[in-house]
Amino acid sequence: MDTNSLIEKFYERYGNRNERPVLFFSPGRVNMIGEHTDYNGGYVFPCALNYGTYLIIRKVKGNSLKFSTLNFSEDIETELTGLFINKSKKWINYPLGVLNEFIKRGTTLSGLEFMYFGDVPNGAGLSSSASIEMVTAVALNDLYDTGFSTLDLVKMSQRAENEFVGMNCGIMDQFAVGFGRKDHAIFLNCDTLEFETVPLILKEHSLIITNTNKRRGLTDSKYNERRGECDKAVELLQSYKPIRNLSELNTEEIQYLDGYIKDPVVVRRARHVISENGRVVEAVKVLKENNIIRFGELMNLSHDSLRNDYEVTGKELDTLVYEGRKLPGVIGTRMTGAGFGGCTVSIVRKSDAGKFISDLGAIYYKISGLKADFYHPEIGPGAGRI
Ligand code: GLA
Repeated sequence: MDTNSLIEKFYERYGNRNERPVLFFSPGRVNMIGEHTDYNGGYVFPCALNYGTYLIIRKVKGNSLKFSTLNFSEDIETELTGLFINKSKKWINYPLGVLNEFIKRGTTLSGLEFMYFGDVPNGAGLSSSASIEMVTAVALNDLYDTGFSTLDLVKMSQRAENEFVGMNCGIMDQFAVGFGRKDHAIFLNCDTLEFETVPLILKEHSLIITNTNKRRGLTDSKYNERRGECDKAVELLQSYKPIRNLSELNTEEIQYLDGYIKDPVVVRRARHVISENGRVVEAVKVLKENNIIRFGELMNLSHDSLRNDYEVTGKELDTLVYEGRKLPGVIGTRMTGAGFGGCTVSIVRKSDAGKFISDLGAIYYKISGLKADFYHPEIGPGAGRI
């Protein structure tokens, strides 16, 4: 939707054409490799998409906060004093959590009118929630001139999600959405937050995202269960080394895991995290050498590890990945995001992309009974005013 029609919709909803609202955009993200490593202090390699969330926003007198979205008909009005979690209208908790972070840091807010529009599929592993959080954070930072850095806004958004919404996510999504750069992926060390942007220009290959369209029912509880298993592994490994997180171990040390951890499930969880870190480091290296074939192999190995060791894939994601790999021109394909449903990301030779979409769509439907959606995203910049 173009910006003029978004502003027109805003006037239709809130009236008063004399005061022009301001427009912001925040991308969604796709993670190329490095899954379930962020909360283990490891490496990730995400990039921001040209799909995301628009926010049209205007300050008003008084204390009332008005929220609406063009994605479904749902208008919500609340007061600035006392922000409470909304149990029935879940999406509203992302902006409320961010407002709460600003208030906690002493920002005096006024009444506000918000209108959101998102074109990134919800709950599909492309960070629709981080996108809503960050678009809200950059808008408030701009409108109230609060001077927070991008890293502050990233951390405030993550905290909104951890503490207000109650989803114990790592920092990758908000970071990718905040620091995205056109045609680059972000090689981030989630422990030190040092990062490097690396060109991801695929030339004769395309980036294709495929949505399983499987609802991710149990994601949050399974996600927290995996976090717990990683904490358990760190605890048990203390007699081996005084580590703070699993990412302090290197791939050579995987052989020692079962000497210290008796539960084979916990061994496998730790093995995934440590081996995935190794794959991210190699993936970045080979990408810089333009070795897209090896990059694709590492994506494949990442998925295999997420299926066998971390067990966060499931029938739908596995069908897309393993049927996809049989098709011509597929360089690499893996699940992206938290898993259990959501999306895959694939690198496919441009000349084979059409066949990939039609054949994989048909096979997937036959096996799962679900219709997959395919996206050809561009890699775009991070959140900001437009
Ligand atoms: C979700 C979380 C991220 C990260 C991924 C898995 O997207 O929000 O912090 O843990 O899952 O890599």
